[in-house]
Amino acid sequence: MIHFHNVRWKNFLSTGNVWTQVDLDRSSTTLVIGENGAGKSTVLDALCFALFGKPFRKINKPQLINTVNEKDLLVEVNFTIGKHSYRIVRGIKPNKFEIYKDDVLLNQTASVKDYQKYLEENVIKLNYNSFSQIVILGSSTFIPFMQLHAHARREIIEDLLDIKIFTAMNVLLKEKIQTNKEKLTDVNYHIEMEEEKIEVHQKYIEEIKAKAKERVDYLEKEISNAESSIARLERDNELHNKKVTELQESIQDEDRVRKKLNEILSIETKFEDKIKKSKKEIQFYNDNDHCPTCTQTIDVAIKTEKIEQSENKISEIRVALENLANELSKENQRLLDISEINTEVSEYLEKISDANNQISSLMKYMKQVRKSITETQEEKVDNTDIEEIEKKIAELNNLKEKIINEREVLKVAADLLKDKGIKTQIVRQYVPVMNKLINKYLAAMEFFVSFELDENFEEVIKSRHRDTFSYGSFSEGEKMRIDLALLLTWRAVARMKNSTNTNLLILDEVFDASLDANGCDEFLKLLDEIGKDTNVFVISHKGDILQDKFRSVIRFEKHKNFSRVAA
Ligand SMILES: Nc1ncnc2c1ncn2[C@@H]1O[C@H](COP(=O)(O)OP(=O)(O)OP(=O)(O)O)[C@@H](O)[C@H]1O
Ligand SMILES: [Mg+2]
Repeated sequence: MIHFHNVRWKNFLSTGNVWTQVDLDRSSTTLVIGENGAGKSTVLDALCFALFGKPFRKINKPQLINTVNEKDLLVEVNFTIGKHSYRIVRGIKPNKFEIYKDDVLLNQTASVKDYQKYLEENVIKLNYNSFSQIVILGSSTFIPFMQLHAHARREIIEDLLDIKIFTAMNVLLKEKIQTNKEKLTDVNYHIEMEEEKIEVHQKYIEEIKAKAKERVDYLEKEISNAESSIARLERDNELHNKKVTELQESIQDEDRVRKKLNEILSIETKFEDKIKKSKKEIQFYNDNDHCPTCTQTIDVAIKTEKIEQSENKISEIRVALENLANELSKENQRLLDISEINTEVSEYLEKISDANNQISSLMKYMKQVRKSITETQEEKVDNTDIEEIEKKIAELNNLKEKIINEREVLKVAADLLKDKGIKTQIVRQYVPVMNKLINKYLAAMEFFVSFELDENFEEVIKSRHRDTFSYGSFSEGEKMRIDLALLLTWRAVARMKNSTNTNLLILDEVFDASLDANGCDEFLKLLDEIGKDTNVFVISHKGDILQDKFRSVIRFEKHKNFSRVAA
């Protein structure tokens, strides 16, 4: 609760260079009187300027300076909140804005705007709108609650019920939701990127595997080619071996033929020798008529016989030789044939040997190829990159889960903090209380109408014959009673909540316009009732009628063009 002690000002509007001070907690009810322009309403401007840095009436700040002195405007307000006393000092020409807490000046390094924010949010916990609805009601600028827009009504009630914090929280929450959304987009983007990386890696690995398979296929084909080559070579070898056996079998007579040839040649030699011998005998008998040894004459008959015998012999041998020559030619031919066959055998054997060489080369090659196949199949693809990326993705997914969980929490919080959430719950609790109070105050002012507010602070009029009524339907005096009932209700709620609670209530000409004598009386009775811990100031021109109903009176007057409090 803010307990106001006093406010003082100088060089402010029509006040000159002397302090005008109003003690705000001296009397429970004070009537402020004075002629038009005497300086009564100035107190509202002084309080507003001190607390909020702006005038109450619709003028700008420089217009507050007294036009005669034109400088040294100063306003001071003293109040206590709990155990601490505060003094706020403001000035124009020179500019001044100071907050003293327990007579110590609060750090002024912040900008004026922040200093003001600090004052409103952390010290008085009251803003200009609520102040001008609950503490000071001026005829010039006061807009009755019921004539405010829904948004302004809600703001005042939120202030009153001290639930503005939820609005502030909602603003922060919206920022958090936005950040959460951005984080989620970010993490999703990163996950996508990592997944793309994996895809590229996998493609690469598949390529490697395909290449390895291609190679293995090729090598296996090589093996199967080699195997069929070997089979073909072995088949050939078998055929060739068979041929060799056949051929070798066909020339088993070679030895015999050679032997026979030798025999024929030796017989031929013998026959040649025999012919030579016979020819020599014929020669002898032709050349000799006597025996060279015994010198006896050789008989011609014998001679002829001997020659004939030899010649016969030669003829016989020649026939035999001819036969032998035939036989020789036959055997020679056979030997030639055998030799040809032997050449053929050699050729086959060479082929077999070549084939065997090829087979062993192929075997060697197959062994190598098999080794290559095993090596290729056993080749390990490097998976480490993928494993690392998968680890990273798992981490990102964890993070994503956390962000999503946070989003769920934020969603719940958003539900709670939106206007229909906690605030509505709290407002709902207070609406019946408020309605009870409104109707109590209306009854106290002898205005018997059931005027209630719903959760949206729209009026609900339940009185008989007035179902179609709205606030606007009522007369000025009736409206005034509703306005006052609302004002008193807000103050009662503020007291309950200890939120916008102050000891001060200033009503500037609130009665003068539309309240009739009866209304004034009833309202004053009410003020008396609430006046126990409240200091009520009523500015009015109806001084004569009201004077005796107040515990004290302040009269303002103009003296030599400057306003002052009359002695
Ligand atoms: N800057 C200024 N310098 C000097 N006088 C000023 C300045 N601004 C306004 N005034 C005058 O200050 C006076 C104080 O006005 P104020 O509103 O306090 O009078 P009031 O007593 O409330 O009168 P009313 O009964 O008509 O409401 C007025 O006469 C006004 O013309
Ligand atoms: Mg006035």
